[in-house]
Amino acid sequence: MKRKLVSLVLATAMITSSMVAMPVFASDDTATEETADEKKDDAADDTEKPDVDLSDKKVGVCIYQFSDNFMTLFRTELENYLIELGFSKDNITIQDGANDQATQSNQIDAFIADGVDLLIINPVNSSSAESITDKVVAANIPLVYVNREPGEDEEKRWEDNGWNVTYVGCDARQSGTMQGEIIADLGLDTIDKNGNGKVDYIMIEGDPENVDAKYRTEFSVKALEDAGLEVNQLDDQVGNWDQATAQQLVANDLSQFGDDVEVVFCNNDAMALGALQSIEAAGRTVGDNIFLVGVDALSEALDKVEEGKMTGTVFNDHISQSHSAADAAVKYLAGEENEHYIGCDYVKVTTDNVADIKEMTK
Ligand code: BGC
Repeated sequence: MKRKLVSLVLATAMITSSMVAMPVFASDDTATEETADEKKDDAADDTEKPDVDLSDKKVGVCIYQFSDNFMTLFRTELENYLIELGFSKDNITIQDGANDQATQSNQIDAFIADGVDLLIINPVNSSSAESITDKVVAANIPLVYVNREPGEDEEKRWEDNGWNVTYVGCDARQSGTMQGEIIADLGLDTIDKNGNGKVDYIMIEGDPENVDAKYRTEFSVKALEDAGLEVNQLDDQVGNWDQATAQQLVANDLSQFGDDVEVVFCNNDAMALGALQSIEAAGRTVGDNIFLVGVDALSEALDKVEEGKMTGTVFNDHISQSHSAADAAVKYLAGEENEHYIGCDYVKVTTDNVADIKEMTK
C-alpha cells in the first residue's frame, strides 16, 4: 500500500480541496507546509481501523475501462487498500465496463441482485449517473462515485435527499492550471521559437465524458494568459485519453504546422507519451524546440520528465483518491455520513521534484 505522503514530501502546490467552488489556482504562490495537526491526522489515517466488521462485506467496483492506464493504477491501489482496511479479497469484485454504458449498467444490476453491501463506480457516461444513483439508492446500497464527476446538480440531489452517495475526485481546473504554469514558467523567449511573440500550441483532449478533459483544456490556456502570454491555438483534437490516437493526431499536426508547433498540451500522460513518439519521429526535441506536458504522473511519463523528454506532468493522486473512496465507503457502512464531494490536490511535476514523486508512487 502506498502511503499518502504528498503533503509531507512536497510543498509544490498545496491548495485546499474545498476550492472546487473557487477556480483560481495560483499554485506556486500558495504553497504551504502541512501543520503538525494535519501530520498527526495523516498518521491517524494510516493506523485507525474502522469500527465495523468488514470481513464479510461484499464490495462491487465498476471501472469504466480496464485498459485505461490511470484507472489501472487506481483500481490496483483501491483493491489493496480495501483489503488493508479489513475487506476480504474474495468479497471484492471489480468489473470492466469496456467503455460501454450498457455493459456497465448490466454489471450494476448484477451487483444489486447479488446483494453487495456497497458500490464504488467509475461511470462510463457521467450523464448516466442519475439513473444509476436511483437504482442503487432504491436498493439501499451506499454508493461512491470516482474519477468521472456526475455533476453539481446530481450531487445536490444526493444532498437534498440525504442519500448515502458521494463523489471522490480531484478538481481538474487545478491540473490544467498547473500544466499552463509549467509552460509559462519557461518564459516567452524560451517558448517562442518562431518569434511571432505568441505561444503556438496544439491541444489533445481526453474523452469529453470526463469533465477533466474540458477543464484541463480550458485552464491550461487560461494559465498562460494569466501569466501575460499571448496564445495561438493551432489545433484542438480529441484523443480520448488514448496513446495511439494522440500519436496519430500529433503526427498530423506536426506535418501540417511544422516548426510552428511550440507547445503540445495533452490532457493526460498516455496521450503525452503518444505525442512524444510523433515529436521524436518528426526529428523535434522536447526542451529544445518544442515543449510537452501531460497529467497523471504515470511511471513512464515520470521517466520521460526525468530524461527531459517531457517538460512536465501533474500528479493525479490515485493513492489519495482511492483511499478516500474506500474510507468514505467504510463510513457509510459504519452508519456515518460523508460530504457529497470529496476532493484531492494535484501536484505539479517537473525535473525539480520528479525524483520525489517517483519515490512516492513506486
Ligand atoms: C485521467 C486520465 C484517465 C481518465 C479516465 C483522468 O482523470 O487523467 O488519464 O484516462 O481520468 O476517466
